[in-house]
Amino acid sequence: MSDIERITQPIIVLDFGAQYSKLIARRVREANVYSLILPFNATRDEIQSHNPAGIILSGGPASVHADGAPMPDPGVLDMGVPILGICYGTHLLAHMLDGNVQRADRREYGIAQLNHEDRAGFFEGIDEGAQVWMSHGDSITKLPSGFEALGKTENCEYAAIADTNRKFYGVQFHPEVVHTPQGPKLLSNFVHHVCGCGADWSMDAFIPIAKQHVCDTVGDGRVVCGLSGGVDSSVAAVLIHEAIGDRLACVFVNNGLLRKGEDELVQRVFRDNFHIDLHYVDAEERFLSALKGVTEPEAKRKIIGKLFVDVFEEEAKRLGQVDFLAQGTLYPDVIESVSATGGPSVTIKSHHNVGGLPEKMNLKLVEPLRELFKDEVRSMGRELGLPGEVVNRHPFPGPGLGVRCIGELTKERLDTLREADAIFIDEIQAAGLYADIWQALVCLLPVRSVGVQGDDRTYEEVCSLRAVTSEDAMTADWFRFPPDVLQRVSNRICNEVAGINRVLYDVSSKPPATIEWE
Ligand code: XMP
Repeated sequence: MSDIERITQPIIVLDFGAQYSKLIARRVREANVYSLILPFNATRDEIQSHNPAGIILSGGPASVHADGAPMPDPGVLDMGVPILGICYGTHLLAHMLDGNVQRADRREYGIAQLNHEDRAGFFEGIDEGAQVWMSHGDSITKLPSGFEALGKTENCEYAAIADTNRKFYGVQFHPEVVHTPQGPKLLSNFVHHVCGCGADWSMDAFIPIAKQHVCDTVGDGRVVCGLSGGVDSSVAAVLIHEAIGDRLACVFVNNGLLRKGEDELVQRVFRDNFHIDLHYVDAEERFLSALKGVTEPEAKRKIIGKLFVDVFEEEAKRLGQVDFLAQGTLYPDVIESVSATGGPSVTIKSHHNVGGLPEKMNLKLVEPLRELFKDEVRSMGRELGLPGEVVNRHPFPGPGLGVRCIGELTKERLDTLREADAIFIDEIQAAGLYADIWQALVCLLPVRSVGVQGDDRTYEEVCSLRAVTSEDAMTADWFRFPPDVLQRVSNRICNEVAGINRVLYDVSSKPPATIEWE
């Protein structure tokens, strides 16, 4: 049992396949109830050890009739704990009890209208005819005994089912996705009205627990933290500082690949506002000389990652005896993911972190954000008094502008990119759109095009703007800007940034494109 579980009972989400489960767990937490994700094959005892208030069986890509279809421990059904099945999870309920699931004649995919009986509890506050998102091939054809139909859609007789005595519920649609606008309310109804959870999960309640956890982990040891200016390391640093004061030292490496004004921002916020012991290392020249002539994306990433570790280690050694390395690891990074197909996941890009450092320097880890999703980290940052310009900032990759300056990395090209990037962000903020966008960035392309400025012919580089919406960076869609915003950005970049005479807007979603270009 974790520290948090001593004060609040969690909802356990059993994961039957990838991304859905994280969304479900987030929605439950948005209803102020603590949730955690376990792999589908977690044993009854393992689940019981968390003392759950309820269990949600997630959706997943399998069919209950497929060979090797993922099945939960059958003991889950005898725990006396409320259960909600979602899509595949509902099929499991029917299949494992005495119902029936069959491949449907018609696959239902997309938006449907839910007709449900207006009742208190599960459907409280959900409109008749509410829009729901369907994505399933299999369907329930016979309800298990004790169950009744609570709702249907045009193509689905059993869109919502329940055995209210045992508190087993099932929905064929996906309440966790944005295309089911009242889905969060439904999940909230399940956890509050069916499982009887209070609204105990809040940052107010969690911060003292997290601080105590840091104190217990660190004892009277010393901690070093790599600050990047990003949200996660910033929040981790401030939290640890509140817990152990000046036994925390932060190292900030300027690798020459930062955004405009970033080094001043970090020093102002952490050294001046929070009085944190901050060690600034100017390593711009070292990075740029190591990267000279390198254009291949993975090679760039490896060089940047390795040099960061070297520079950080040198600086940390100057601090004398240090026992712990603080990392802003988040919950999505620690969820033990299961692959519904059993295949290994492919490395698309090697992500930059301080890999190798803990072993090399014989440091133990302190990771105070391991329980949290990104939006929760932001809310913790706000509670701890971090300014909006840090807390609300779009994610920024470890290798920084190194993976946005396509082709060779020179100081001149990086300065050009920094200026263009600052203009793009500035105009997005002026248009009040910053919070609607997951991430906005500029890539400088190693392509030159002909332009005309005044009476002169120009022959300069091209940049591409990219702005995406996303829930978790696993998938993303390009942001629909009002045309006048794009026009202002383009005008300003071409007029104010020497070296660029043409601006493109990237309209690729992820997949197939990734968010960063390299
Ligand atoms: P991609 O480009 O893979 O990016 O669609 C997904 C998200 O991850 C960020 N990203 C990184 N973050 N270290 C990080 O901490 C990295 O090396 C790294 N590479 C990509 C990217 O900005 C996006 O938010």
